[in-house]
Amino acid sequence: MKHLQVDLKNTSSFIDLEKFNNYENRVIENNEQVTKKTGKGNDFLGWVELPGHISQDQITEINSTAKSLREISEVIVVIGIGGSYLGAKAVIETLSGQFDYLKSEIENPHILFAGQNLSEDYHYELLDFLREKKYSVVAISKSGTTTEPAIAFRIFRQNLEARFGKEEASKRIVAITDKSKGALRDLTDQENYKSFVIDDDIGGRYSVLTPVGLLPIACAGFDINAIIEGSKSMMHIADKNSFKENPVYQYAAIRHLLYTKGKTTEILANYNPRLNFIAEWWKQLYGESEGKENKGIFPASVSFTADLHSLGQYIQEGLRNIFETVISIEKTRYDLTIPQDEDNFDKLNYLAGKPIDYVNKMAELGTTLAHVDGNVPNIKIILPEISEFYIGELIYFFEKACAISGYLLDVNPFDQPGVEAYKKNMFALLEKPGFEEETKKIKNRIS
Ligand code: PA5
Repeated sequence: MKHLQVDLKNTSSFIDLEKFNNYENRVIENNEQVTKKTGKGNDFLGWVELPGHISQDQITEINSTAKSLREISEVIVVIGIGGSYLGAKAVIETLSGQFDYLKSEIENPHILFAGQNLSEDYHYELLDFLREKKYSVVAISKSGTTTEPAIAFRIFRQNLEARFGKEEASKRIVAITDKSKGALRDLTDQENYKSFVIDDDIGGRYSVLTPVGLLPIACAGFDINAIIEGSKSMMHIADKNSFKENPVYQYAAIRHLLYTKGKTTEILANYNPRLNFIAEWWKQLYGESEGKENKGIFPASVSFTADLHSLGQYIQEGLRNIFETVISIEKTRYDLTIPQDEDNFDKLNYLAGKPIDYVNKMAELGTTLAHVDGNVPNIKIILPEISEFYIGELIYFFEKACAISGYLLDVNPFDQPGVEAYKKNMFALLEKPGFEEETKKIKNRIS
C-alpha cells in the first residue's frame, strides 16, 4: 500500500548534505522527547498516541451522535474558533464535493461554521439563511470561555429555543468542551446537552482527531474510522528511527536547516483548491506552535495555479527568504480530458486527449523548477490521492513534524502565550468585569 512521502530533491542545491544528515540524531532525540514526554509542554502530548487509543466505543458514540443530528438537520452549524474550528473545516472541505453547497438535494446536511469571527454581517446572514431550515448546533470550545464562539452560541441557542422550544432545542445542541471547567461546561450540565470531553492533555490545534474534529466530520457524512486508520498508519511510520524511512523526520529537519540559512517564510502550496483549508489549519498549527520567543518560520499559503497569477511574481523574484512546500496529489478523483476541436482556433489540439491533470502536473513541475532557479527551495509532500485515509496520514504527519520542529527551535510547541495580548486589550476596551485597571490604562492610551 502507498503512503504519504516526502521528496527533498529540489532542496539539494540549497543545503549541505552532511549538515542535513547531521540532523538525524537530533530529530531522533526530539522524537523521543515527544514520545517519552520529557520535552517542553509535555503535559500537552495526549495527541501523540491518540490514533492508537481511540476506542471503537468512542467512534461508535461519535457516529451515532452524528446520525441523530443528521436525521433532524438540513444544516449543522459548528461553532468554534482556532483549533476548535480549522481541523473540521479543513477535512470537510477537502473531502466534500466542491459544489455540494449549491445543491438543494443532497444526501448530507450542509456543515456551516459560526463563532470563527466577530462579523455581525456574517452571523446575521447565517441566521437569516437558517430561518426556514431545520438545523442543529455543535458548540466547541476547550476553555469554554472564548468570546467569539460564546457570542455565537448565545445567539444560535436562543434562536433554536425560540424556533423549536427549549426541549427540542436541547436535542439539537451538542457541546464539546472541558470535562469540568468553563461556561460552556456549566451551561451543558445545566441544560443537559449531549456532550463530549476534550482531554486536558490535548491542545486546540492538535485536537482534530478528537470529537472536536471527528464529530463535525462524521456529521458531514465522512468515514472517521478511515481517518483514524490513516493517522494510525502515519503514527507508526513516524516512529521509525531511520531518517530515510521517516518522512516526518525529513520534513522537520529540512525546514529547520533552511530556516538557519535565512529561509524564514514557508509557503504551503497546493495545485488543488480542495486543500485550501488544509493550509489554513496548517498555518495555525505551525504559526501558534513555532512563532514565539522572537523565533519561528512564518507560515503562508498559496493555491496554484490561481496564485501563480497573483503571488507567483513575488515568489519568483521578491525577497529571497522563502521556501516552498507543495502538497502534491498523485491521482485525481475524477477524469476529464481536453477534447479535440476540428477548428482548433484556440490552438489547443496539441493537448487534445490529455487529462487536465496532466497539464496541472506539468504546471507543478515547471513552477517547481522555475522557483528553484529563483532561489526558492522546494519540498514536496506526495499524497497518493485525496481520501479519508490519506487525510488522516497528512494530519498526523504535520502534527508530529510540528512538535519536532518546535523542539528543534527550542520553543514549547504546545502553548500560545501571545494569543492573550489581543484578548486583554479587547476585554479592557469592552469594559469586561474584572478588567477595570486595564480599562483605565487603555482609555488613557487611546484618548
Ligand atoms: O490551539 C489553540 O489552543 C487555540 O487556537 C484554540 O483552539 C482557540 O483559541 C479556541 O479556544 P477554545 O477551544 O478554548 O475556545
